[in-house]
Amino acid sequence: MNGSTPQAVNAPITRSAIFLVLTLQPDAASHAAVRALCADLAALVRSVGKRVPAGRLSCVCGFGSDAWDTLFGAPRPAGLHPFRAVGQPPRVAPATPGDVLLHIRAEQMDLCFELAAQIMTRLGSAVATADEVHGFRYFDQRSMVGFVDGTENPEGEEALDFTLVGAEDADFAGGSYVIVQKYLHDMTAWNALPVEMQERIIGRTKLSDIELAEGVKPSWSHSSLTTLEENGAEVKILRDNMPFGRPGAGEFGTYFIGYARSPAPTETMLENMFVGNPPGNYDRLLDFSTAVTGGLFFVPSAPLLEALAEREAATAPAPLPASDALAAPAGDGSLRIGSLKGASQHE
Ligand code: HEM
Repeated sequence: MNGSTPQAVNAPITRSAIFLVLTLQPDAASHAAVRALCADLAALVRSVGKRVPAGRLSCVCGFGSDAWDTLFGAPRPAGLHPFRAVGQPPRVAPATPGDVLLHIRAEQMDLCFELAAQIMTRLGSAVATADEVHGFRYFDQRSMVGFVDGTENPEGEEALDFTLVGAEDADFAGGSYVIVQKYLHDMTAWNALPVEMQERIIGRTKLSDIELAEGVKPSWSHSSLTTLEENGAEVKILRDNMPFGRPGAGEFGTYFIGYARSPAPTETMLENMFVGNPPGNYDRLLDFSTAVTGGLFFVPSAPLLEALAEREAATAPAPLPASDALAAPAGDGSLRIGSLKGASQHE
């Protein structure tokens, strides 16, 4: 493993996934327990994964902006900030609590479940669960709305290039930024649409998953609003969305997860979808889909994740001079050491 070997960000899409969003308890012992997991996570994945070698178990672990400062202090990843809510009612991508993200993937749910159980046993009362979603592969990679999802994902070298931090933030090379959102769909209204209209909304044909021709594909289609260009070249993100739901409770959802080298491309896509491009020309998929969670996390490289276990807590009692105004504890008891680097946490 070299210094910037990534976590399993680019692991192939699997049949099952668990998404856990956790919040930290405020005491130092809880913070120490989360740091201890950073050192143990790879071994836990190996132990559980070896039981079914063909099961391709993997786990990606990321941290929210405030949690980074609380757990690890400075230096901090250049692009990490709290998730910014996008849009106005009736179309809002809300920001919801989340300090730690665990993205667990495998070919079978028992592997995901066992790893999640082992991790949560380790963490015990150090964290509270803000959200837990168990996702499944739906036929030929169909999203909950019935269209194939993931077709235009980058692959191979291109995927590495679009998802992994490089020389632009050398201390954090091999890391990645990930945005997650839980969406709930009004399937009764969606299913009442003619298939031709659904196809215009997504921008692809439903059965055969072919992109609609320019001139037929509306500018407000999901595909048009999430296709980004910078200096004539396309900028992609890597998505590993999963359907989830409880038909008995009338719940039908998509868990969106997008990895990128910086938060910016995914944030621009969200702006295009929720506000519109130009404003008002919004993503009609949102007439049938409501975002109920939203979070941004930084995923350190594998060696950095392990090394973070040894970092000093920003909240550890530190004998700072009382005259140093910056040393005054913030309202939540954190010393906000991360902000000494000049990066504001609440931009
Ligand atoms: C309601 C939740 C969502 C559903 C059901 C959904 C579904 C889909 C489907 C079916 C496609 C077409 C096939 C493909 O290329 O993957 C697609 C494409 C895409 N989606 Fe989503 N998506 C959702 C949310 C999002 C969000 C929140 C973003 C970004 C912030 C996003 C970004 C993209 C991108 C970049 C593409 C590829 C566009 C292209 O290159 O043609 N999606 N999505």
